[in-house]
Amino acid sequence: MQHFEVIGGNRLKGEINISGAKNAALPIMAATILVEGETVLHNVPDLADVRQMQTLLARLGVKSRRDDEGAMHLTVEDEMNAHAEYELVSKMRASVCVMGPLLAKRKRAQVAMPGGCAIGDRPIGLHIQGLRALGADFELVNGDVLLRAKRLTGSDIFLGGPFGSSVTATANVMMAATLAVGRTVITSAACEPELVDLAEYLNACGACISGYGTPEIVIEGVLSLRGTEHRVIPDRIEAGTFLIAGAITNGDLELIGARIEHMRAVVDRLRCVGVIVERGEKGIAVSSSRRLEPVMITTQPYPGFPTDLQAQAMALLCLADGNSVITEKIYPDRFLHVGELNRMGAHLRKEGPTVIIEGIKRLVGAPVMASDLRASAGLILAGLIAKGTTLVHRAYHIDRGYERIEEKLARVGANIRRVDAP
Ligand code: EPU
Repeated sequence: MQHFEVIGGNRLKGEINISGAKNAALPIMAATILVEGETVLHNVPDLADVRQMQTLLARLGVKSRRDDEGAMHLTVEDEMNAHAEYELVSKMRASVCVMGPLLAKRKRAQVAMPGGCAIGDRPIGLHIQGLRALGADFELVNGDVLLRAKRLTGSDIFLGGPFGSSVTATANVMMAATLAVGRTVITSAACEPELVDLAEYLNACGACISGYGTPEIVIEGVLSLRGTEHRVIPDRIEAGTFLIAGAITNGDLELIGARIEHMRAVVDRLRCVGVIVERGEKGIAVSSSRRLEPVMITTQPYPGFPTDLQAQAMALLCLADGNSVITEKIYPDRFLHVGELNRMGAHLRKEGPTVIIEGIKRLVGAPVMASDLRASAGLILAGLIAKGTTLVHRAYHIDRGYERIEEKLARVGANIRRVDAP
């Protein structure tokens, strides 16, 4: 098993290229199930989760390959199978994004229930509720969700849940509704930029979707969709992680391709901390040269502060000059990094979905255990500034969502390497 060895203390300086967004690429890849002919996707990141989606799609009859320039070509070759099995779904929750496309195109979707994961309970009731509202029959068979419909019919669907909107439920219902008969209106829809990207891909394929990026999405059903060429948006979570890397090391970075308009809440919080963040010529520039101010952060659905940057922000606030508070409103149990940061000398106290962060002068290196993708990123950031060596075990978590993170960080001056452990 591999781990990352990080020796803290280097100031990061230079440019980092931001990769395509994982959470846009995965649902768009799933959406190709709906489409006749070839789709060509540019800027799909080379990640473990993307390869996992390719494996799942291959089982479902969608052939995919990368060309010499790295573009991904996807074509449906066989529509017989509509079963996403537990063996694959349990490895990656985003597999659930095939549910809406399979149901709409193949009249049947059998998708294993993904179950819980390290960041807490992750139900899919809203996905099922939305697809049933389009006319699907639902059964639970051996732990699989089985949805069937001879035809789907447009409907008014409220998709708000106990924690607000759901990103992949909105994706599933929007994808299914593209081929339904008549008009679908989704209210309390998620507004994330990744959903805007998915809607733009679908519209380029011939779908008729409006209102995306707002809580009310309107979809007029069409008879068929045809393949197109599309460029995936830059990854705002990767960009946010590197913004914090610049801030935590008192560095000076430019994140090439990052879009500040997708990151307003993150930029706002970082500016309150005292970090300088500006729109650069080619992306976003970040620099920091003084003690950090403490702040309050509450994670929320977009355009609020993303839960996927909560662990990274916590690493930064460990070093602020005073007490900060982070409240997690999306996944109240997403705090496995708290104990690990405390092993590095942080002063963190968890009280329900809130963590109180008492700022300290410095973190110290330690062996720590990654529990999920974003928590691992938070631990690497802490390692960049800690005194001594930090070993972040279970590198595979990071590889699910960050493209060659150690190479990108090393190129701007970080002392980080990937180590093969016996
Ligand atoms: N929820 C329900 N019922 C549902 C679905 C969700 O109550 O049927 C709740 C969840 O428990 C959570 C909230 O709604 O409290 C939001 O969850 P959401 O459904 O939006 O999450 P998701 O679609 O499963 C996506 C990202 C996650 C990201 C969340 C929140 C993808 C592939 N995944 O998950 O990304 O944390 O939105 O922004 O887009 C990551 O990249 O590390 C990651 C976990």
